Amino acid sequence: MPPAPAAKGTEDAYDVPADYKPYVPVAKRRAALLAQVGGRHLPQAKKVKLLSGDNSTQASREGSAALDAEAERQAADEAEMERVEREKTRREKTLLQAAQEVRRKKEIEDARKSEAEKEAEKEAALLAEMERAQKKLAGAQELAHGTAYTDSMKTSWRPPHYIRNLSPEEQQAVREKHAIILEGEDPPPAIEHFADMKIPKPLLKYLSGKGIKTPSPIQIQGIPTAFSGRDMIGIAFTGSGKTLTFTLPAIMQSLEMEAKLPFTRGEGPVGLIICPSRELARQTYEGCVAMCDALKADGDYPELRSLLCIGGINMADQADALNRGVHIVVATPGRLIDMLEKGRLNANNCKYLCMDEADRMIDMGFEEDVRSIMSHFKYQRQTLLFSATMPRKIQDFAQQSLINPILVNVGRAGAANMDVIQEVEYVKQEAKMVYLLECLQKTPPPVIIFSDNKNEVDDIQEYLLLKGVEAVAIHGSKTQDEREYAIRSFKTGGKDVMVASGVASKGLDFNEIQHVIVYTMPKEIEDYVHEIGRTGRSGKTGVATTFVNMNTSEQTLLDLKYLLMEAKQKIPEFLLDIDDPRAAQGGVLRGCPVCGGLGHGLSDCPKLEEEMRRKTAANARYDGGGY
Ligand SMILES: Nc1ncnc2c1ncn2[C@@H]1O[C@H](COP(=O)(O)OP(=O)(O)OP(=O)(O)O)[C@@H](O)[C@H]1O
Ligand SMILES: [Mg+2]
Repeated sequence: MPPAPAAKGTEDAYDVPADYKPYVPVAKRRAALLAQVGGRHLPQAKKVKLLSGDNSTQASREGSAALDAEAERQAADEAEMERVEREKTRREKTLLQAAQEVRRKKEIEDARKSEAEKEAEKEAALLAEMERAQKKLAGAQELAHGTAYTDSMKTSWRPPHYIRNLSPEEQQAVREKHAIILEGEDPPPAIEHFADMKIPKPLLKYLSGKGIKTPSPIQIQGIPTAFSGRDMIGIAFTGSGKTLTFTLPAIMQSLEMEAKLPFTRGEGPVGLIICPSRELARQTYEGCVAMCDALKADGDYPELRSLLCIGGINMADQADALNRGVHIVVATPGRLIDMLEKGRLNANNCKYLCMDEADRMIDMGFEEDVRSIMSHFKYQRQTLLFSATMPRKIQDFAQQSLINPILVNVGRAGAANMDVIQEVEYVKQEAKMVYLLECLQKTPPPVIIFSDNKNEVDDIQEYLLLKGVEAVAIHGSKTQDEREYAIRSFKTGGKDVMVASGVASKGLDFNEIQHVIVYTMPKEIEDYVHEIGRTGRSGKTGVATTFVNMNTSEQTLLDLKYLLMEAKQKIPEFLLDIDDPRAAQGGVLRGCPVCGGLGHGLSDCPKLEEEMRRKTAANARYDGGGY
């Protein structure tokens, strides 16, 4: 309890207890508290005034002394705060300076880098971004469960001991002799003779009868790789024998499985081959059937059944094979998914999956279809991808999705076949049709004329028929019967000329086409490579004539110019005159990672532009998913 206050004028008369604390009025206590709490923000003079007030009594003086001590402490606190504040500012300044320093250094470094290097860096970043956005090529279940196979598939095939005994250097020498570039761990050996590949004799006899006596470079390395069970990416120019590289192993795997336990109703397939077009699927299927028949005819081998699974045909026609169990299915994605979903086919025994024209399959909108096909697989499979064109983006994506793959590359991916003589002519749009007739005289038939425009295909055919040229036409809007009639009559020599859109440009192997006329140059140079690749196959020479004019974009012309230079072809004057804006930047010219074109970079790739446009259109169509 506070002692009674001393009466005014009698203060000396009292003894002050030692623990006496002078009374401080409420208003002053409040002021002191206020100063304590908010004092930091008040000017010094005001603070002192607040704390000291105008005490005149001893008690007030002592109270004020206590308050002074408090003020001193406050001042010390304040000084400390200021010091911390200064230090913070100093540090911030240093960080800012450091950032400026880094920026300055980067500017100096950038100035040193060539434009080409900067472009390459930008490309790499964009590619990495695209890669991140892309899901692995695997079934939905595998992706959901995070199933990751680490070991390649096992097969019972072994190279003969004298090949196995070759040193890695000797094996590499064989690859170099055939210009085979190989990437991947522990590669199987390259084998230069079919007989050393342990292929059954009746098959060797069949191949020899077709003039296939020694393996082509892709076969030298690709067949042993596929026979060994390894995942593989096979890249080799058009007409170089990729089909045999993946059909032979499918047959060998089927033979092995059938020998273990014969296939019965509802079983199979062992091997699945997917193609982007019905015509290509039929051609591959016919090749498989012919080889299976050759094996069966020998008498020592079991019957192997193949199934063609494409849209536009009646599957009931193949009911017999389906009922007895199939070993090999050759399919286009749509019909195959339909059959798998309806349970008419299953992939429970499937060990071997091959995609022909794989780059086209992946970037022409079949990527999701491939994933849904893969989701029907119960177990691990051997996966193989083949194409003449395989831009870096697809190669990287494929490498990620396959298991310990081997990449077999013969020549640059996307390069034109050197056996094709490429002639590029400037023909005005209105003169094209008339000049076509003259151009047809260059070689004897058969001739293929390509245009990406379906109406143009029809117009050309009509014009040729009017002029008495035996011509058939094929494009995606024709009925299946019309398409089949066109292919059959052209293949058998019944018709001299086939006018075609892009559907007939990939993989189709016609009998010794003499001349390919590219009536309208496709936007993507890879499509051009496939189109001219219908001639000059299997080591024979062919001619390709391409019409260009004002309607052909400068960038496409630039891609074409580099492709001609690479294939050591004659370059017409008007192409020589086109300057490459990147030439001044220096650096090595590499193919565009998205479309393989040599005349442009990623930033002005027509294919990427088209992809973006398609994606935007698809997003615009999405209505939010509500009911
Ligand atoms: N080793 C070989 N020797 C001779 N001819 C062969 C050989 N291998 C395949 N052929 C023949 O070469 C032609 C082209 O083969 P194939 O269709 O497999 O080429 P491709 O590489 O798939 O071409 P594309 O890229 O156009 O699809 C076929 O007629 C085929 O019979
Ligand atoms: Mg092919």
